[in-house]
Amino acid sequence: MILKNLEEIKEIEKANQIIARLYRDILPPYIKAGISTKELDKIVDDYIRSQGAIPGCIGVQGMYNEFPAATCISVNEEVVHGIPGDRILQEGDIVSVDTVTILNGYYGDSAYTYAVGEIDEESKKLLEVTKKSREIGIEQAIVGNRLGDIGHAIQKYVEKEGFSVVRDYAGHGVGLAMHEDPMVPNYGRAGRGLKIENGMVIAIEPMINVGTYKVVLHPDGWTVSTKDGKRSAHFEHSIAIVDGKPIILSERSEERRVGK
Ligand code: MF3
Ligand code: CO
Repeated sequence: MILKNLEEIKEIEKANQIIARLYRDILPPYIKAGISTKELDKIVDDYIRSQGAIPGCIGVQGMYNEFPAATCISVNEEVVHGIPGDRILQEGDIVSVDTVTILNGYYGDSAYTYAVGEIDEESKKLLEVTKKSREIGIEQAIVGNRLGDIGHAIQKYVEKEGFSVVRDYAGHGVGLAMHEDPMVPNYGRAGRGLKIENGMVIAIEPMINVGTYKVVLHPDGWTVSTKDGKRSAHFEHSIAIVDGKPIILSERSEERRVGK
């Protein structure tokens, strides 16, 4: 695990703030029925480059091929790592966007699930519970706790709400690379795992399913879907532990910024 100093955390925050603005200001007007995921990818690619950064997903080596696009876009039953393509968003869909940026060698990583127009009640609850589970996980990222406290809190809340936690993918250290140690699972036992320390930078990213937690990998080598075809949502923040507490690096907020 690589602990980061404040200067480094400020740089990682800059990379993450590009994604924060992308999700808050740039993408929402385009999340509409009729747009293809390929068109959304182009908007993400252009925006990241306009900010002097590079999309981190392009060319990443997977199981048998490289990821071919700027960002991962996963619709409805797709959990993560969806490859942007000709799929057209329909009214009532949910769409997860997972973006990595590289700015001056520092990495940002954040994901957000959007509703396409009006969505059904179950999907609304899925989005709310997944987003809240991320906040519940982040609250546990304090000095004095262990990594298992994060996963445990997320799992307990999500299962109480009747949904399931994907096991095969997890959060991770981030900042000088896209994926660093340690792994940060979204399930587990309280009081177990690595101690949380100042200078840790981790991505917390619950992937939450309506039905079974089991997932399948598509023949494209990347796209991961739920095994039962029911819907899945994904919210991710990169956070840093500073003065014993978490700072959300990938949230657009004027408060609690490291970089000012
Ligand atoms: N945030 C995603 C992850 O942690 C980013 C994947 S980019 C990809 O897995 F290229 F690996 F798809
Ligand atoms: Co991630």
